[in-house]
Amino acid sequence: MIPFRDTYRDIPLYSPAKKPCRVDLSDNTNLFGPPPSAERVLREEGLQRLSRYPAGYAPDLKRAVAAYAGVAVENVTTGCGSDDVIDCALRAFLEPGDVVAYPDPTFVMVPLYARLSALRPVPVPLKADHDVDVEGLLATGAKVLYVCTPNNPTGTVASRAALERLVDRAPGVVLIDQAYVEFAKGGDFMDLARTRPNVLVTRTMSKAFGLAGLRVGWAVGAPALVAEVEKARGPYKHTSLGEAVAVAALTEDVPWMEACVAEAVENRERLRGGLKVLGLEPLPSEGNFLLVPVPEARRVGEAMRERNVNVRVFEGLPGVGDALRIGCGPWPLMASALKALKEVL
Ligand SMILES: Cc1ncc(COP(=O)(O)O)c(C=O)c1O
Repeated sequence: MIPFRDTYRDIPLYSPAKKPCRVDLSDNTNLFGPPPSAERVLREEGLQRLSRYPAGYAPDLKRAVAAYAGVAVENVTTGCGSDDVIDCALRAFLEPGDVVAYPDPTFVMVPLYARLSALRPVPVPLKADHDVDVEGLLATGAKVLYVCTPNNPTGTVASRAALERLVDRAPGVVLIDQAYVEFAKGGDFMDLARTRPNVLVTRTMSKAFGLAGLRVGWAVGAPALVAEVEKARGPYKHTSLGEAVAVAALTEDVPWMEACVAEAVENRERLRGGLKVLGLEPLPSEGNFLLVPVPEARRVGEAMRERNVNVRVFEGLPGVGDALRIGCGPWPLMASALKALKEVL
């Protein structure tokens, strides 16, 4: 008899609509492309790195992240995308059956990863002003509280006052997902990861740094927290090529990344203007995307795909309703999205 797991019976495979489109604005990646150093590393080191294993626990990457984030190497863990760091952190701090709580709506992978570790995902609605409901999250008694800021898919941010209160009173670990922090005006909570014993801040090379295909993420926290996540992670979560490219990007391409971010943010606000002209009202956003409430989002998204523009469709989001999430990058792509949307609304 095959020992199928009861807790896996109803778990679906993750499959967002991904019809190939000329303009793909569906995943919040860097639409300007990969960082310049990547081409050199692939050319100079690509082949020779293929036949041997990478070093366990990614020491070069940890050193580069530590220098970039201004922390000690002992404060850093890494993973196969920040997805993986989140997954490992849930496994590291919770036993099967435990609760993980998070504001709703938020990053869709969190409840999925919770279920993969036989945890109980408990959503707590975002407040009407889009801040986190501290009391609601604490009332769940969860030993891991996840907060994404800037939040995917809303683009809105958690206030410092709320997050500090949450961290002060949490019975366990607060996981702060800052995949989009490079695009935000402030709201960088790395200081909490450096100074509090119960905060892990996750970051990624997939968004502002343009390396989503390489699957490199990282987190900063107290050494005792990091050590537990490293146990849950295992030694080989990166390819040696992925590690080398990420190290080069962190050490050489920060100015390039900042230039991409500035342009994405400028175009995000220009896109907001265009959406308002269409009579739409996007949420405030500090990410490289806008969430715009649109009735019949599924129909609209499908019709946009027919016009070669892919945006992410959400249906019945708590507090928002149907909506489209539109990734921001070079203006010609934004113009294509606006044109397609205007035709199908
Ligand atoms: C909020 C948030 N966190 C984490 C991730 C995962 O990114 P990655 O696994 O590529 O680092 C994403 C990707 O969409 C995201 O939106």
